Amino acid sequence: MTNTNWEIEAPRKKLFIETLGCAMNVRDTEHMIAELSKHQDYDTTETMEDADLIVINTCSVREKPVAKLFSELGTYNKKKKDGAKIGVTGCTASHLGRDIIKRAPYVDFVVGARNISKISEAVQTKGTVEIDINNDETTYDFADYRQSSYRCSVNISLGCDKSCTFCIVPATRGDEISIPTEIIITEIKKSVTNGAKEVFLLGQNVNNYGKNFSDKREKSSFTKLLQEISKIDGLERIRFTSPHPLHMDDEFLQEFASNPKICKQIHVPLQAGNDKVLKEMRRGYTKKWFLNRCEKIRNLVPNVRISTDIIVAFPGETEEEFRDTIDVVEKVKFESIFNFKYSPRPHTPAQNMPNQIEDKVATQRLQEVIDLHKSHQDEHMEKYLGTTMKVLFEDLKPNGEIFGFSDNYCQVFVTGSEELLGKIVDVKITKVNRTSLKGEVL
Ligand code: SAH
Ligand code: F3S
Repeated sequence: MTNTNWEIEAPRKKLFIETLGCAMNVRDTEHMIAELSKHQDYDTTETMEDADLIVINTCSVREKPVAKLFSELGTYNKKKKDGAKIGVTGCTASHLGRDIIKRAPYVDFVVGARNISKISEAVQTKGTVEIDINNDETTYDFADYRQSSYRCSVNISLGCDKSCTFCIVPATRGDEISIPTEIIITEIKKSVTNGAKEVFLLGQNVNNYGKNFSDKREKSSFTKLLQEISKIDGLERIRFTSPHPLHMDDEFLQEFASNPKICKQIHVPLQAGNDKVLKEMRRGYTKKWFLNRCEKIRNLVPNVRISTDIIVAFPGETEEEFRDTIDVVEKVKFESIFNFKYSPRPHTPAQNMPNQIEDKVATQRLQEVIDLHKSHQDEHMEKYLGTTMKVLFEDLKPNGEIFGFSDNYCQVFVTGSEELLGKIVDVKITKVNRTSLKGEVL
């Protein structure tokens, strides 16, 4: 018997990708995996030594010393398989560009955070540097890949229209452009067909959605977008990050409160509590406005959880001015806080401001915020004991526990089987600790 079909498929190549930073970087990584799988025959591996291609998707929001990136690259270069390629992508790629290859000539390519669609071409040509922050990817049809089957992350805008004086993001991700509503809706519908129950809308400034599109279409708004998305059949939950306190108008808060598909957790990034510091940060709101928005949210939405970002020791921040940050924390009692010491960044006005604050003071202030916040966390979590929460189960742990998130974004663990995955189920909370809950399925 003869077999005339002698074609043997070439084995697929292996991609190891390390992701640092924010939710948008996580989504960029999904896009890169999808593009490289569809156009370049790569599958992912967890083992760097097996990889034919190693990518570090970097973050540059705070100063994780650039030296650390280069020492990591050096380690990968030593341990990688013969002939394996190395690429640097993301925000540090955007702001260092070709200097990365000058300093580490074994790096094959550099692709910035605004140029992810170029990844398939970049891997093919050694020395490629794609870092144009004016690149418009709002209508690029990315190949599809998602890490979670039950939650889909979807970009709604690229870049940022603000210019907070501490922040490098506008220099690495460029000006804000919104993605057309119909593209967002189509993407979500596709994910829902494939099993997603929840969408996580992403942008640097989501509630400024609809102000700038790359074509000449009518302006829209985030509230309108939320209304359109919530019409999608089969989609049960909508989350988003990050909104900006300045754009939290009453119409938006009303929609947040009354739309049953919108999860009752909201990020309201404070940064600092003092009006002079906020002005120097160019945040565009005052302490009074911020407190008023949080009060309104708590009044409209009884079970809401509010998270925030705080930067301590911004240049020139006096002890007295820092007290305003503490005052806001005391008044709002955030459920969750991402705390940072101010870190001077290239391409930002704040790095050249006088009176940079010594690290010892920054550490003390940070600790004060952390300590105060702990007592609030405990207070909030205790309230959940004995209550019933709706939990979307997402993952199984090796010890037989299964976990998911409540509508208001508490992490909840139960003992259960795979059958719970992807389901939204009532859970009675039987044990609380500072950052998670345990319960029993009802
Ligand atoms: N629009 C995005 C901001 C991205 S940066 C969002 O709201 O999520 C994420 C956070 O990093 C900021 O909110 C800020 O608290 C922090 N951050 C940004 N630049 C910083 C700097 N130079 N030093 C310390 N923290 C910084
Ligand atoms: Fe950065 Fe301010 Fe935009 S924190 S991402 S410049 S809203």
